[in-house]
Amino acid sequence: MISSLFLIYAGLASQVSAACSRAALQDVAATYVQAQVSGKPTLLSLATNVSYGENDKPLDIAKGVLSQPITVDFNRSIYDTTQCATFTELTAATSKHPYVIHTRILLTEDASKITKIESVVTDSGDWAFNATGHLYWTRQEKWEPIPESRRNTRAVIQAAGDAYLDQWGNSTLPVPLGTPCARLEGGAYTGQSNPSANTCRMGAFPQPLKVADRRYIIDEELGAVDIFNGFPWLEATKPGGAVPSTNFIRVEGGMIRYIHEVTVCETPRCGR
Ligand SMILES: *[C@@H]1O[C@H](CO)[C@@H](O)[C@H](O)[C@H]1NC(C)=O
Ligand SMILES: *[C@@H]1O[C@H](CO)[C@@H](O)[C@H](O)[C@H]1NC(C)=O
Ligand SMILES: *[C@@H]1O[C@H](CO)[C@@H](O)[C@H](O)[C@H]1NC(C)=O
Ligand SMILES: *[C@@H]1O[C@H](CO)[C@@H](O)[C@H](O)[C@H]1NC(C)=O
Repeated sequence: MISSLFLIYAGLASQVSAACSRAALQDVAATYVQAQVSGKPTLLSLATNVSYGENDKPLDIAKGVLSQPITVDFNRSIYDTTQCATFTELTAATSKHPYVIHTRILLTEDASKITKIESVVTDSGDWAFNATGHLYWTRQEKWEPIPESRRNTRAVIQAAGDAYLDQWGNSTLPVPLGTPCARLEGGAYTGQSNPSANTCRMGAFPQPLKVADRRYIIDEELGAVDIFNGFPWLEATKPGGAVPSTNFIRVEGGMIRYIHEVTVCETPRCGR
């Protein structure tokens, strides 16, 4: 009797401590995809004070892209149970208006309410934008769960992503790029000609770039981090100012396997 009661209490306790469970976050991300497909943000459980923003600007959710139905061809999500947050990449190539959208969603500690939704929304004219190309390449990649014994810590996954961005500020800094490694920028794929090689290495920018305002979502099980950030210099009309950008990075054994970058341009192709 005592032992069975103990088991019941232990069970309840573990349910409480797992309130921001992976399952709850998977549900939120799947509902977000449905909300975008139907153009109905009200499908989501929003806190009354939820903040919504696109491309680093606050926006009325009813006027945003989430309120327009979009045909989504492919999506990938990661789940951050430590921060109680999700990240989703949507590829909409066959939609009347093609998009590639990166979205981070922050929730209350018990995952019951969404407190923040922010997206980088890219379409025609944005950096290397080509939703057809994005769809073609992302579909071929494998971002499967990493076996438990081979998982990296949050710190290692974040450090790999940070090293990639830090190197833009100092081209001699080391970046843990694996072999193979491929980068998908907009719809352009570095792995196109040699999928088994490390094609992620980058040359130095004409000037060192300081990538600031980094906002992370990290998933140890999928070995992935997404970093929302401001990309300075790229937009020719404002070389000192930053444009909205995110890098979605898969890490295997501490080494970068895939990088997906989406970046908003203020002039077509950022004038470059
Ligand atoms: C917003 O609402 C959530 C849940 O309803 C609450 O946890 C949070 O503290 C509120 N935030 C602010 C800034 O009022
Ligand atoms: C989103 O991805 C999930 C998991 O791969 C898939 O089951 C679902 O059908 C996708 N949704 C859309 C609209 O493509
Ligand atoms: C977009 O990508 C597709 C698939 O890789 C390619 O066939 C097409 O030529 C690309 N379009 C442009 C405008 O680059
Ligand atoms: C660039 O990184 C290298 C290697 O860590 C370091 O020795 C050097 O001081 C750095 N340069 C600048 C300008 O920070």
